[in-house]
Amino acid sequence: MKRLETERLTLREFRIEDIDDFYDYAKLETVGPNAGWLPHPNKEHSVKILEIFIKNDEVWAIELKSENKVIGSIGLHHRSLLDYGMIYEVGYVLSTKYEKQGFMSEALKRVLDFCFDEMGLSKLFVGHFLENKKSERLIKKFPFKYLKDMDYESRDYGLIVSKIYMMKKNEYINWRKVI
Ligand SMILES: CC(C)(COP(=O)(O)OP(=O)(O)OC[C@H]1O[C@@H](n2cnc3c(N)ncnc32)[C@H](O)[C@@H]1OP(=O)(O)O)[C@@H](O)C(=O)NCCC(=O)NCCS
Repeated sequence: MKRLETERLTLREFRIEDIDDFYDYAKLETVGPNAGWLPHPNKEHSVKILEIFIKNDEVWAIELKSENKVIGSIGLHHRSLLDYGMIYEVGYVLSTKYEKQGFMSEALKRVLDFCFDEMGLSKLFVGHFLENKKSERLIKKFPFKYLKDMDYESRDYGLIVSKIYMMKKNEYINWRKVI
């Protein structure tokens, strides 16, 4: 992943040395289940997932500059969606201790800049499970447009009804001009 900077965060590739920081949040009941995966039962499991992240190169580690610590992740996943064909989905998780300080808004804005300014994407989508109000509030801070509720295939829980949103490049560029 290309290294990206914000005021408080560095978005960079995961490294195997991130294992302790990764397991610290991957084991929490408040993190994985909201994103469709079970809390990690042990560090060995986290090592396997971390190796997949490193191999697939779809996910940025979110490193908090002030603590030199990985506090979450944000990724771009190429998926098939409804009538849109293959399209990138943005997904994210944050360690619970660091919530409500604007960190994911800051990371997501940087990733959206990258998607539309550098990757040349024309649109992307995002989704959250119906009851995930935290993610809904984050999404609503950006110019995503609600598309529909649909069954979404989660990694560990099967199909879960989710709210799906889309953003087009021109909508983002126009929004960015006025913030
Ligand atoms: C969803 C998540 C990424 C939000 O990250 P965050 O860094 O706390 O979000 P931000 O601080 O940038 O703020 C986003 C909005 O959510 C609100 N929010 C964050 N945590 C909240 C909480 N515990 N309760 C209510 N609202 C909350 C913020 O207040 C903010 O809204 P506002 O600025 O309009 O007040 C984070 O809670 C998380 O990773 N949760 C667990 C995993 C998950 O749900 N991933 C998303 C799967 S779709």
